[in-house]
Amino acid sequence: MADVTVTEHLLLHQKQTPQATGQFTGLLYDLILSGKTISRRINKAGLLDILGGTGEVNVQGENVQKLDEIANRIMIYRMERCGALCAMSSEEEAELIRVSPEFPRGDYILIFDPLDGSSNIDVNINVGTIFSILRRPEGCTGEVALEEVLQPGRNQVAAGYILYGPSTMLVFSTGQGVHGFTLDPGVGEFLLSHPNMRIPEQGGIYSVNEGYRNNWDAPTREAVDWFHNCETQDGKFYSSRYVGALVADFHRTLIYGGIYMYPPYVNKPNGKLRLMCEASPLAFLAEQAGGKASDGKRRILDLQPERLHARTPLFIGSVKDVEAVEKVYARHKTA
Ligand code: AHG
Ligand code: MN
Ligand code: MN
Repeated sequence: MADVTVTEHLLLHQKQTPQATGQFTGLLYDLILSGKTISRRINKAGLLDILGGTGEVNVQGENVQKLDEIANRIMIYRMERCGALCAMSSEEEAELIRVSPEFPRGDYILIFDPLDGSSNIDVNINVGTIFSILRRPEGCTGEVALEEVLQPGRNQVAAGYILYGPSTMLVFSTGQGVHGFTLDPGVGEFLLSHPNMRIPEQGGIYSVNEGYRNNWDAPTREAVDWFHNCETQDGKFYSSRYVGALVADFHRTLIYGGIYMYPPYVNKPNGKLRLMCEASPLAFLAEQAGGKASDGKRRILDLQPERLHARTPLFIGSVKDVEAVEKVYARHKTA
């Protein structure tokens, strides 16, 4: 197969979608450059003094790792100069970042989790960067208002992630299927390795942190139990996998099928995951790959975020596996 670079793929794509502009292609190009820069830093993590925490707690109440901060700074520095954005929101920043007038500005809004799964970094396990791209609502000018950014996930014009694993991969969708690229470190280019990724209709793996079982309500326990008791299409038991980095657990689910679950807790009904920078972009990819994403009752892409850092329960993956969970919640609702 001839090597297709991500730039070449974007240009071909642009021909097919007349609404795509050079501004948008430039945005993706700079996102990719940020990802390559972060990848390089992560590759050297054991050699430089960049492991461990900064001693600070972020807006989410979580310990900030040095690499969280480095990845966040790389993203903000590069992306505020890309010329296509008017605003950004990062998991690590409490407030909306409005692109300063000293830089050229565009119509797009970027929401990102600079480093997902960062509690894994000290033990050399996969982490990733998740991104979601929205367009500023038609007719809005001047200073970007928070309401312009708080859009449901179905409005995303593109979403994806960069996975820093044994190899670095870029997986994204602009609404025309999901495509995966692998970084060739020798030439510094992402090459098309996984065209048109599709999630199998049913999988054989469920992924959830069962350590919190005593903090789940009865329907959640029953939903997870369903995977203990049902059979795969081949008549086998479901297997369990949990990396603890959403981006890695999702990547496996995208390829093998199955389900990733971050359910509600009794004392935290919205669970842990962030709607705008984690659940929505992955839900966009899941649907584009023929899968499904739900909060147990509603489609993730239809949820209206009430704040930048709103959280949601997440059930994502193969259609049949996600529907099995929804059926359990629906039964409890009517019981
Ligand atoms: P982040 O590192 O960006 O804060 O995200 C961590 C998230 C997600 O990646 C992962 O699936 C989940 O936290 C794991 O949480 P638990 O340890 O509660 O299972
Ligand atoms: Mn995360
Ligand atoms: Mn993070």
